[in-house]
Amino acid sequence: MLATISQIAIGATDLVAAFLFLFGLKRMSSPATAASGIRVAGVGMAAAVLVSFLYVFTLNDAAAPHLPVNLGLALLALGIGGVGAWFVGRKVAMTAMPQMVAIYNGMGGGAAAGIAAVELFGNRAQGTTQLVVTLLGALIGAVSMSGSVIAWAKLQGVLGKPLRFSGQRILNGLVFLVAVAVGGWIALAAMGGAAPVLPVATWITIFLGVALLFGILMTLPIGGADMPVVISIYNALTGLAVGFEGYVLGNPALMIAGMVVGAAGLLLTLLMATAMNRSVANVLFSNFGTAPAKGKHGAITGTERETQASDAAIKMRYASSVIIVPGYGLAAAQGQQKLYEFVKLLLAAKVNVRFAIHPVAGRMPGQMDVLLAEAGVPYDMIFQLDTINPDFATTDIVLVIGANDVVNPAARTDKSSPIFGMPILDADKAKQVYVIKRGQGKGYSGIVNALFYAPNCNMVYGDAQAVLVKMIEAVRGLGAAAA
Ligand code: TAP
Repeated sequence: MLATISQIAIGATDLVAAFLFLFGLKRMSSPATAASGIRVAGVGMAAAVLVSFLYVFTLNDAAAPHLPVNLGLALLALGIGGVGAWFVGRKVAMTAMPQMVAIYNGMGGGAAAGIAAVELFGNRAQGTTQLVVTLLGALIGAVSMSGSVIAWAKLQGVLGKPLRFSGQRILNGLVFLVAVAVGGWIALAAMGGAAPVLPVATWITIFLGVALLFGILMTLPIGGADMPVVISIYNALTGLAVGFEGYVLGNPALMIAGMVVGAAGLLLTLLMATAMNRSVANVLFSNFGTAPAKGKHGAITGTERETQASDAAIKMRYASSVIIVPGYGLAAAQGQQKLYEFVKLLLAAKVNVRFAIHPVAGRMPGQMDVLLAEAGVPYDMIFQLDTINPDFATTDIVLVIGANDVVNPAARTDKSSPIFGMPILDADKAKQVYVIKRGQGKGYSGIVNALFYAPNCNMVYGDAQAVLVKMIEAVRGLGAAAA
């Protein structure tokens, strides 16, 4: 009786959890509802985890000889994971978010591979389909885990330059083929089609080891700057692996959550690649961003013209329209609060201020939206590329803060540029452009920006937050002088 009630409760809660995942994801599609979407999905996850403890009531004693030990281990793992994630999540800086996502994603892949390993070592797969799905989940989960750990290490600065050598792709291809062949061998042996030669447990260990090795080898040559896209690919793979293991365990919540994560990761990967005008293969197999730009300025002539923060601020105070283009440097400088303080002064002076967001500004999807939301900027002041681009030509002043590639006109005009074809914000079309950056540092793509040399552009050198403080002082100074 208790077993039946538990089974019904598990099934019902799994479905409710799956609904909450989907509903939460839907809410995450807008910055206005994203925070509540995360909470909704979190409730779904908590419900799915808690109800799985009822699973013990569906077992008989013979089927669960290690139950007390396993329950203890599960509670310990939940405690360590939950408390650790809570503290790390509270403390993590916005700029360190990509590596946090990478490591959590790696754990997801590892968990999927772990479930598959338990099933394989325990010889529990029933039938060919289940065995093949288990093996696929193990392969994908293990690749995703080790690859994500390397991605984390690169973003965290633990690993330095990309490791590249000749014949690398051939080696990687061979390692992948070995993993697939060993997996195939395990399946064949289990179906009685081949004599295993070595004990099956040894083959399974080799299979998992080679899959982990492939994840490492595949990620080592990729530059740190491409890691957000790589993480998104691994995110999709983790989702797929979790979905497969959900099928193996007959757990609908796991299946749906895995497929949702897989689909979201895939769409995000494609979105990022499209916004950078690059193919996913180009991200994985090219050496993008590491080749130095040709010549000092490439085909660009002239010099950058500097202006003072106070002069730029006062010009904005008396302008009628200002568009602000935030980029990676704003996040690095943590200048979002000061930026909004400055914007409020402009708004008080009846300046029409708007924010223009490029889909790949910063180093992770939606980073600028999150940054501005954190500072309290109202959503109706924030515009995406397609909506705001036609307005640059009629705007008095564009303030570019720590952005570079996303306003580089070479993407429109220079066919030899690595960013040619990438949609950009048309900042250069405004009457006057001010760019806040620390010096001559290049952007993520490593190329020179023609905008900085244009006659309608002036540079305000300095850390974004420090410059914004000066701008605030300058505009406040005007008010004080007038009083
Ligand atoms: P970037 O082109 O990377 O330029 C950032 C600029 O910020 C640099 O030129 C740097 O110049 C300046 N900067 C750095 N720290 C600063 C600070 N403390 N204060 C002021 N300025 C600072 O940034 P972007 O325009 O946002 O473009 C993003 C790039 O990343 C694109 O090429 C995109 O394809 C790529 N990417 C994005 C994503 C996602 S999903 N967002 C994923 C992968 C790749 P100085 O050193 O002179 O200060």
